[in-house]
Amino acid sequence: MPRIVLRSPTPADAPAFVTAVKASRRLHGRWVAPPSEAEAFTAYLERMRAPGHQAFLIVRADDDSLVGVVNLSHIVMGALRSAYLGYYAFAPNAGQGLMTLGLKAVCREAFQGLRLHRLEANIQPGNAASLALARRCGFRQEGFSPRYLKINGRWRDHERWALLAD
Ligand SMILES: CC(C)(COP(=O)(O)OP(=O)(O)OC[C@H]1O[C@@H](n2cnc3c(N)ncnc32)[C@H](O)[C@@H]1OP(=O)(O)O)[C@@H](O)C(=O)NCCC(=O)NCCS
Repeated sequence: MPRIVLRSPTPADAPAFVTAVKASRRLHGRWVAPPSEAEAFTAYLERMRAPGHQAFLIVRADDDSLVGVVNLSHIVMGALRSAYLGYYAFAPNAGQGLMTLGLKAVCREAFQGLRLHRLEANIQPGNAASLALARRCGFRQEGFSPRYLKINGRWRDHERWALLAD
C-alpha cells in the first residue's frame, strides 16, 4: 500500500493547514514562511489557482494527516516546458522519508501528467535538509545565483538545482 497520497489543497484544509504550520515553526526556521492564518491560506489558494501554478498537498495514506506541500509555480510551456519548485514538510511527519516519496510523485506528475521538461529548485547553501532532499530525488546542481531571492528581508544567495524529464 502506498504511504502517501497527493491531492490539491482546498478551503476545507485551512484549519489543519494553519495548525500544522504553527506546529512546524522550528522545522521551517529561517527557510520558509508558509501561511499561518486562515486568511493567508485563502490568499495562497487564490495565488495557486492562477494559470501557471499548481499546488500539491502530500498526505499520509493511513490517517490523511498533512506531510507537506510542493508548489509548482511559473509553469511555462512552449519551447521551455519548465517550472519552479517550492516545498516544505510538516512536523511530526517530517524525517520519515515521506517528503521524498511526495516530491518524487510530484515530479512524476509534472513530467508525465503536465508534460514538463524541467523542474528548478533554488536552495540556500546552508539548507542541508533541502539540498539532501533534492539530491535524493535526482536533482543536479546547475549553478549558483548570488543574492537571488529576498527572504526574511535580505537578498540571499541560492544554489540552482534542476531535474530533467529524461
Ligand atoms: C527540506 C524538507 C522538506 C525535507 O523534509 P523531510 O521530512 O526531512 O524529508 P524526508 O523525510 O523525505 O527526508 C528523508 C529523511 O528521512 C529519513 N528516513 C526516515 N525513515 C525513512 C524511510 N522509511 N525511508 C526513507 N527515508 C527515511 C532519511 O534517512 C532522511 O534523513 P537524513 O537526512 O537523516 O538522512 C524539510 O526539512 C523542511 O520542511 N525544511 C524547511 C523548509 C525548506 O527548507 N524548504 C525548502 C526551501 S528550498
